[in-house]
Amino acid sequence: MKLLVTGGAGFIGSNFVLYWLKNHPQDKVINFDKLTYAGNLENLESVENNPNYEFVQGDICDEDSVEKVMAGVDTIVHFAAESHVDRSILNPSDFVKTNVLGTRVLLDSALKNKVKRFHHISTDEVFGSLKLEDKNKFNERTTYNPRSPYSASKAGSDHLVRAYYFTYGLPVTISNCSNNFGPYQFPEKFIPLAITNLLEGKKVPVYGDGLYVRDWLYVEDHCRAIDLILQKGKLGETYCIGGLTQDINNLEVIKKILDNLGKDEKSIEFVKDRPGHDRRYALDWTKINKELGWKPLYGFDEWLKKTVKWYTENRRWWEDVKNGEYKKYYKKQYGVL
Ligand code: NAD
Ligand code: DAU
Repeated sequence: MKLLVTGGAGFIGSNFVLYWLKNHPQDKVINFDKLTYAGNLENLESVENNPNYEFVQGDICDEDSVEKVMAGVDTIVHFAAESHVDRSILNPSDFVKTNVLGTRVLLDSALKNKVKRFHHISTDEVFGSLKLEDKNKFNERTTYNPRSPYSASKAGSDHLVRAYYFTYGLPVTISNCSNNFGPYQFPEKFIPLAITNLLEGKKVPVYGDGLYVRDWLYVEDHCRAIDLILQKGKLGETYCIGGLTQDINNLEVIKKILDNLGKDEKSIEFVKDRPGHDRRYALDWTKINKELGWKPLYGFDEWLKKTVKWYTENRRWWEDVKNGEYKKYYKKQYGVL
């Protein structure tokens, strides 16, 4: 198989490329990535000399480079996106461009080149926000109700992917997953930001009252789910992929990280809330469990501990990332903290 991975130099994409080459060593993998601030080829150093791996730098919005890279491809796994909610609030334009318009370019090229499968990676954020007091969860039948420029742009891309299935018969599948955590996550996201700030002796900024709830999925569990969808998923279908946490809020997550690093709650700093902050996400993964036999294997406490260890042992990776552009962004977002 010749697999095209878009956004393969980002957090989940690079974990997926490593996972795929390890578990499907006979396949060819092309990683097509623009290398925005979030793309980092260091994540892929261990495979850069693998003859079955190729990196091509390019923008999914650029029709010519997409058309070129698509030659001979059977399967696409589309991760490339602007992915950070806070940045989408500061500047929505790149989100609409890459996430909506870029996805359209890929879909047209996939159609023209008769690819056998277009798998689109989406998010549970397209479903909106649940109430803290509710016990219900999002599932594949939940109505879309995105509330940030990021989630609205992801919702737009999901709709386009489905439209290409119904209108043109493009063989697509879609997955909507919850918050991933694990190695190589850019330290603008909550867990790596918290761990690396604490390792630098800084405080952790907690938005609002800190009682926001996310569903946490270890990144390798996510990669296994995509693998199963590619093998056994039904065309035109959507699968929700969630983790093993039960309504754990941000303060509880931070306390676990503090415990792991032997620090106390004096390292927490409550800061101004995110505008339109979604209160609670929870994801029901019954469909992919029943139809494809997937379930998450990695429990939160154990794999959070391993993630903290990974950041502790890979200081150079995140110290390199946390300079230049990152410093400017951090100052804009958090002030002097
Ligand atoms: P990320 O920000 O770490 O990586 C995104 C990658 O896409 C980067 O390598 C970047 O260089 C590349 N990219 C951005 N714009 C591009 C363009 N125009 N052309 C080509 N490449 C481009 O993102 P992530 O956290 O790994 O997320 C990957 C995908 O998974 C995204 O589609 C995101 O919406 C989705 N998702 C992420 C999470 C999560 O918790 N991180 C959860 C649900 C869904
Ligand atoms: O749910 C899936 C989504 O998860 C993905 O689609 C997105 O790409 C990914 O970024 C993530 O979005 P969130 O907004 O949930 O993740 P983030 O890590 O930014 O924030 C997690 C929670 O922590 C959220 O309630 C906001 C809060 N937070 C975040 C940051 C960066 C803080 O309290 N302080 C912070 O500094």
